[in-house]
Amino acid sequence: MVEGQREHWERTYGEHPGMYGEEPSEPALRAAEVFGAAGARELLELGAGHGRDALHFARRGFTVTAADFSPGGLAQLAGAARAQGVADRVRTLLHDVRAPLPLPDGSVDGVFAHMLLCMALGTGELRALTAEVRRVLRPGGTFVYTVRHTGDAHFGAGTDHGDDVWEHGGFAVHFFSRELVDTLAEGWTLHEVRPFEEGALPRRLWQVTQSPS
Ligand SMILES: C[S@@+](CC[C@H](N)C(=O)[O-])C[C@H]1O[C@@H](n2cnc3c(N)ncnc32)[C@H](O)[C@@H]1O
Repeated sequence: MVEGQREHWERTYGEHPGMYGEEPSEPALRAAEVFGAAGARELLELGAGHGRDALHFARRGFTVTAADFSPGGLAQLAGAARAQGVADRVRTLLHDVRAPLPLPDGSVDGVFAHMLLCMALGTGELRALTAEVRRVLRPGGTFVYTVRHTGDAHFGAGTDHGDDVWEHGGFAVHFFSRELVDTLAEGWTLHEVRPFEEGALPRRLWQVTQSPS
């Protein structure tokens, strides 16, 4: 896929600490309700960045493993967890999601990933990742993810890397088609595909909620 994304994210978090702000994202607010209603306690967040959402989950009383491939982002997250008094409920995990998740089978109640699956991941890597998410979820668990989609203004702008991956301003994004959402839901029960917008562009995204069937 696209080389150098890890270095690009690491540099970005170094130059713009806390770039997504301290407030939780709208999808995280909604996901916390879904996880809470399902009685979840242990969560895994993929692509947690500097932790605006992981910290919200921890403040809500969940225990969170916050994974990202940027050490700088995770260091900011760990510092904020200590400052907010929730460090005992947050574990950072330096991990590239192109590799199998270093967690046991059936070890978490919920998995959250805001704008991670739409990074520089090919369709094959996304299939492998969703299989890994399924493996680590306990029976009855829930997977909530968000992705930018082909209706986003940046779809088709910049450098074309194939497989609907476009690089713009140094960031590579896999813009999801609805077909890809359905492909990644094979063997799952798809509960919701909710369109929403975030940021000034605005980014156009879907929030997908699914459970192993
Ligand atoms: C668009 S940012 C979103 C960050 C966070 N979810 C938020 O909304 O505040 C995507 C995040 O995914 C991380 N990331 C990108 N590719 C990754 C990979 N292959 N493995 C792990 N993390 C990755 C980046 O470091 C970055 O923190």
